[in-house]
Amino acid sequence: MLNLYHEIKKYFIFITCAIIVSAGTCFYIIFQHAVNENNQSENSRFNETISSIIYPSLAISDTTEISRILELAATKGRYVSIVDNDGNILAPDYKTLKNVKTILGDKNPKNCADFQSSSVSCLPIFSHEDNARFLGLSLSFSHYKLPLTIKKTMVYFAVLLFLVTTVLLYILKRMTSRLTTELDLSYEKTANLKRDAALYQLAQQVAHDIQSPIAALRILLFNKEFVSDKKDELIKGALNRICDISDDMLEKNKKTDGDNAIPFPALSNMIQSLIEEKKIQHTEKSIEIEFDCCESGDNAIAISVDPTELSRVFSNLMNNAIEACENTCARIRIILTKTYKQIQVIITDNGSGMPKSVLKKLGVRGNTAGKASGSGLGLAHAIQTIRSFRGRLSVKSSARRGTAVTIQLPYFILPETKVAS
Ligand SMILES: Nc1ncnc2c1ncn2[C@@H]1O[C@H](COP(=O)(O)OP(=O)(O)O)[C@@H](O)[C@H]1O
Ligand SMILES: [Mg+2]
Repeated sequence: MLNLYHEIKKYFIFITCAIIVSAGTCFYIIFQHAVNENNQSENSRFNETISSIIYPSLAISDTTEISRILELAATKGRYVSIVDNDGNILAPDYKTLKNVKTILGDKNPKNCADFQSSSVSCLPIFSHEDNARFLGLSLSFSHYKLPLTIKKTMVYFAVLLFLVTTVLLYILKRMTSRLTTELDLSYEKTANLKRDAALYQLAQQVAHDIQSPIAALRILLFNKEFVSDKKDELIKGALNRICDISDDMLEKNKKTDGDNAIPFPALSNMIQSLIEEKKIQHTEKSIEIEFDCCESGDNAIAISVDPTELSRVFSNLMNNAIEACENTCARIRIILTKTYKQIQVIITDNGSGMPKSVLKKLGVRGNTAGKASGSGLGLAHAIQTIRSFRGRLSVKSSARRGTAVTIQLPYFILPETKVAS
């Protein structure tokens, strides 16, 4: 957003500069053109007059005639003087004698180039019969007197240019500020939409994840055929899971990383109680769940993860494994081991295997296949959560032979005090 604002600002400055530069250039070109045209026509006519009078008569000493020309020139805003080879003024223009002297100075007037300038033109005058005989110089001083029409045009042009530039700048400024406001609004809307989408996803996930303990609770409370001496304990466990998930959503009991340490035995218990829950949840199915805990005695190591989140992951993966064995007796095997620097949990099943469509898009929410009421939330949540714990989730699956989901999580050695407690 801020970038876009700066972009517009940059653009605005660029347009302003472009208008000013192009206007200035146009003005300069038109002005130069007008001046040149005016100069050319006036100078050529004037020089012609001088030459035609001087050449035929060679009456350089006839100051009366030349003075008349000078006077005529003076009335037109031109000042002319004739000087001889040595730079002496032959036909002084009494009005501008001072100016001529200033311009000539000590320099040799033969070198005409010295006197070329935008306002002074200097032409040598040679004898008509003997071309090598230098008679003098004609100097003309130009005052750029622009014709009235050109002047008017220039003024109109300048005013018009000023007005157009001002209006353009005003429009541009209005547009920029409107655009900025609109962008601010759309940015706010996008942020709100994103937040709503995130909340919706969270709510969806929670609704999905509490299904398992609710299903278990329903059977424990209302299925008279279900008999167990641990019934109370199981009800308590299912209720606790529901509470934990809802607390998690409300960001209650949010613990820091240090407090989230799950020691190895606690992890083993978590899996064990989830297995109990699954057995109750899927009572109508024929399932066998085997749990191998290779290092159950090692209470010196722990993983630093949110227990509620992790139990949701295991619960969803176990559900998937059971649901994959639609037409056979589900044989689920869960292996908990400690490898070098990592704790590893493998959940294998003898189900249908994952469809290719799912394997191709692993980790994408809504990626479901072969289930009437599938949501595609469980696996995506598991992958995302394990990644957030700096762990790894991998899937090996083959059609009709089953699937193995492996989770690896880094562990750390617990301080001695914690081990003791
Ligand atoms: N253990 C498994 N065996 C076979 N297919 C599986 C297994 N786990 C996941 N799947 C496939 O992955 C899909 C996505 O799973 P999941 O994200 O949990 O959503 P859902 O179970 O709601 O469909 C499932 O629909 C299923 O096709
Ligand atoms: Mg699922």
